[in-house]
Amino acid sequence: MAPMGVDLPDQSPGVLGLGFLVPYLPALETITERACGVRVVEFFWGEPDARTVSAGHAAGALVSWQVGSAVEAAAAQRAGCDIVVIQGVEAGGHVRGAKPLDVLLRDTVEAVTIPTVAAGGVGTPERVRALLDAGADAVRVGTRFLAASEANVHPDYLAALIASSAADTVLTGHFETMGGGRGLCASSEHRSKGLRPPAIAAPCPPRCGLDTPGTMPWYAGLSVDHVHKIQAAADIVADLTSLLR
Ligand SMILES: Cc1cc2nc3c(=O)[nH]c(=O)nc-3n(C[C@H](O)[C@H](O)[C@H](O)COP(=O)(O)O)c2cc1C
Repeated sequence: MAPMGVDLPDQSPGVLGLGFLVPYLPALETITERACGVRVVEFFWGEPDARTVSAGHAAGALVSWQVGSAVEAAAAQRAGCDIVVIQGVEAGGHVRGAKPLDVLLRDTVEAVTIPTVAAGGVGTPERVRALLDAGADAVRVGTRFLAASEANVHPDYLAALIASSAADTVLTGHFETMGGGRGLCASSEHRSKGLRPPAIAAPCPPRCGLDTPGTMPWYAGLSVDHVHKIQAAADIVADLTSLLR
């Protein structure tokens, strides 16, 4: 998904999605305008809302909502969403789910009839297979793609991702004003001592070329355990789907 504010290419060779964080939501007509031509519009970090969903539908897109509980998933369905993403506490980035993904997925597939995507800590083909067997219609993977050769991730952050394990991640409210997130401490000294990162106000992790990567959040899920090297995105997909063929 392209985050809000990123210029979308005029002609994409694949299917594009557009993600909106609810605390930063623009006017409804701006959502519709920006979503024109994308296949999926997704909202995160806010109560599902029918008018917001309609703004995505008005652009001709499917509308998804990333949620942190089965109750919130049912609210997304009532608001008119086509897809729900259930995010477990294992996830990197902003973390909405307070429970393990397996528990949340079980409750969500009972609570909704729309397609359900499982997210959080997914890093291996075995985990992908298990989640689909447990009733997910698809999985979402974030952290593993930070080490894709196509990703524009700052080299210091990338090196830390490759060197780190799940135990190095912390779930903290310190990353941003928006709420809880999971990531790595930017300082290796802090990581080795298991310390929390200092308060960080920036919402986005550091890209290549930035001078002060340590002042930004180094998001990472428990799936960082499976980030071992830089790989082409297509090779990561081939690995993760290798038990589905
Ligand atoms: C670096 C990073 C940035 C993220 N940014 C967003 C975002 O802007 N909007 C959003 O809805 N989710 C965001 N997420 C959360 C993902 O949608 C997803 O829940 C998470 O990556 C799943 O866990 P995983 O990283 O262990 O695969 C982000 C995750 C990471 C790791």
